[in-house]
Amino acid sequence: MPLPVPVLSEGVDPAWLPEEAFRAVGGRRVLIRGSGPLVETVHAEAAQACARFGGSLVSDDPDVVLESTGEDGSEAFTLGHRDGRTTVTASGGRGLLYGFFHVVRLGEAAFRGERHPETHRPAVAVRMLDHWDNVAVHPVMGQVERGYAGGSLFWADGRARGDLERVRAYGRLLAACGINAVAVNNVNVHATEARLLTDRIGEVTDLAGALRPYGIRTHLSVTFAAPMVLGGLETADPLDEGVRRWWAGATARVYEAIPDFGGYVVKADSEGQPGPFAYGRSHADGANMLAAALQPHGGTVHWRAFVYDHRQDWRDRTTDRARAAYDHFVPLDGAFAPNAVLQVKHGPMDFQVREPVSPLVSAMSHTPVAVELQATQEYTGQQQHVCWLGPMWSEVLRFGAEDGLPFEELVAVSNVGDDPFWTGHPLAQANLYTFGRLAWRPDADPGAVLDEWIGLSFPDAPRRLAGGLRRVLAGSWRTYEKYTAPLGVGFMVQPGHHYGPSVDGYEYSPWGTYHFADRDGIGVDRSRATGTGYTGQYTKPWDEVYESPETCPDELLLFFHHVPYGHVLKSGSTVIQHIYDTHFEGVEEVETAREVWDSLAGLVAPARHARVAERYEEQLGSAREWRDQINSYFFRKSGVPDERGRTIH
Ligand code: GCU
Repeated sequence: MPLPVPVLSEGVDPAWLPEEAFRAVGGRRVLIRGSGPLVETVHAEAAQACARFGGSLVSDDPDVVLESTGEDGSEAFTLGHRDGRTTVTASGGRGLLYGFFHVVRLGEAAFRGERHPETHRPAVAVRMLDHWDNVAVHPVMGQVERGYAGGSLFWADGRARGDLERVRAYGRLLAACGINAVAVNNVNVHATEARLLTDRIGEVTDLAGALRPYGIRTHLSVTFAAPMVLGGLETADPLDEGVRRWWAGATARVYEAIPDFGGYVVKADSEGQPGPFAYGRSHADGANMLAAALQPHGGTVHWRAFVYDHRQDWRDRTTDRARAAYDHFVPLDGAFAPNAVLQVKHGPMDFQVREPVSPLVSAMSHTPVAVELQATQEYTGQQQHVCWLGPMWSEVLRFGAEDGLPFEELVAVSNVGDDPFWTGHPLAQANLYTFGRLAWRPDADPGAVLDEWIGLSFPDAPRRLAGGLRRVLAGSWRTYEKYTAPLGVGFMVQPGHHYGPSVDGYEYSPWGTYHFADRDGIGVDRSRATGTGYTGQYTKPWDEVYESPETCPDELLLFFHHVPYGHVLKSGSTVIQHIYDTHFEGVEEVETAREVWDSLAGLVAPARHARVAERYEEQLGSAREWRDQINSYFFRKSGVPDERGRTIH
C-alpha cells in the first residue's frame, strides 16, 4: 500500500510545493508503470494531484506516462513529449520520483510542443543536508546550533519530537529540489546525542523510515570518543583492535535497524572535539577505521576538514587559520579509504560573506571530496536579513570546474527548523531550494533557479509579484556584503552569537580571525613574498593572481593583502572611500528592497507578507548599525574624511 502524501498541519507553509503547483499534471490522464517503494510514492503523488485537479490514473490512452523499467538505484530519468503524450522513463523508482517532480516544475510546459527525449541525471551523487540539531537543548547553542528557524524538526527537549508527518513532508520538499541525504544531528556531538548511535538508534530509525519514501538516506554525526563514552573502553585509538571491533559491532547494529543507513559524519580534533591526534594517529587513520566499519554495509564516513588551531595568539603572525585545512590534509591525499569522503568548507575560514574558494577542494585528487556550504545564515544575517546565496554558491561551484568538477559530493548546513515557514525568514526558503538544484547541476544559472523557485512557490504570480521577488532576492547577497565586513576581510561580528557588527570583536581573540587594521591600513598579508604564504596553496593561475595586490580581485583584496587606506582599487576608488561608499549604498539598497516588499502587500498571503515586513525592519536597523559602526571605526582609525561629506560619527 503506498503511503499517502504527507499532510501539513494547519498553518505550516507549503513552501515550493503548494497544491497549485500540481495543477498541470493533476488535470491529466496519468499512467504509471513499474513497481517498488519509490514508484509507490510517485503513485500516491499523482493520485493526489489528480483527485485535486480532475485528472485520473488510467491504464490506457494517457496524456502522461511515468514508467520505471526496473528497480535499480539510478537517479536519472528521460523526459520526452511526442504526439500529445509526455513520457518520463527511468530505470528505477528514484529516477522516476525526480522525473515526476521535474514535470511538476515544468507545469504546462511539460505538455506542449514536441520534446525530444532528454536525459537528466545529477552531476553530484550525494546531495546532503547536515542538521546542526541537538537532541537535548544545549545551554549555549540551544536546540539547533546556529539555527534561526525555531526548534528542530527532529528533536525537542531531549527526545524525538515525534512529528513524523512533518518529517515526511520535509523529505518531500527535499526530493522536489533534488536532495538525497540528511544527517540528523549536530557535528558537535554532546553526551545525549552520542547515544543515538547505540541505545537510542530507534529514534533515528523512525526518522529514516519517514525520509526513505522520498529517496533520502539518513546519516548520523558520531563522536570519535564513542568507544570510551558509550563502550566503556579505555581508549579510542583508531589502531587499537578493541576499538576497531567496537566500531564494527556498533555499526553492524545500526545496519540491522536501518539497512540503507548512509553513514557517519565526524568532526574530529576540531574546536575541542576528540580525535585521532590524542593517540598520535593521523586523520586518515581515524577516518579509515570508521570507513572499515561501514564498508561491509555500503556506508560512507564524511570526515570534516575543519581542523585548525583555535587557541591562537593574535600576536603570532606566522600562524594562519586559512592555511590549516590544506596543511593538515594535503599530505594525506591518497591515504584515505574509498568510502571516506573529506568534507571541506567552501572557503578556508568559516562561511563568511566573501572568501576565496578553499584550495583544498582541488588539491585532493586521490580523495573523494564533499564541499560544505552553509544554508543556515550564521554569518549572512541569521535569517533576519534577506541574503539569497545562489550567486555566491554558483561562483564557488564553478571555480576550477573547467575540466570537470573538482569535488564528488555537496553538503549544506541546513537552515530549517520547526518554524511554520520552515526557515524563519520565508524568503530563506529560496536558499534551501537553490542548494538542492545547484547540487543537482552545479553549472546551472542561479538566476534561472531563483525564477523556478518563484514559479513553484507562487504559482500564477502576477508579473509584478514575480518581478518584485526577483528584485528583493537577486542582489541581496551583494547588498549584504556591502554593509558588512569589507573587501573579503571577514568577521567583524559580535563574538559568540555572530549577529551584528563588532569590528574588533574577534581581533585579539584566540580564534585566528583578524583584520589587522591600524592607523595606516588594513588586511591580512597572505602572500608568499611577505606574508603567511597561503597564496602558495593555489595552483595556476590563482597562486599568481592572488599573490599581488595589483592582480588580486578587489572583493578579496583584504583577504590576501594588507594595504594602506589610500590604496587605489581596480574600481578607481581608494580602500577607505570604498568602505564609506559601499556602506552607504548597502543601507540604501535595503531601504529600496523594503519599499519593494511593502508594495507587494495584497499579492502575498498576509501572514507571509507580515513576517517578511517585520524582518525588513530588523534588517534595516541592523544594516544602519553596521554602516555606522564600520564607517566610524575606519574614519577614526584613518582620519581620512569621506569625499562626499556624509555624516560619519
Ligand atoms: C562555525 C560555527 C560553529 C560550528 C563550526 C563547525 O565555527 O560557529 O557553531 O560548530 O563552524 O563547522 O564545526
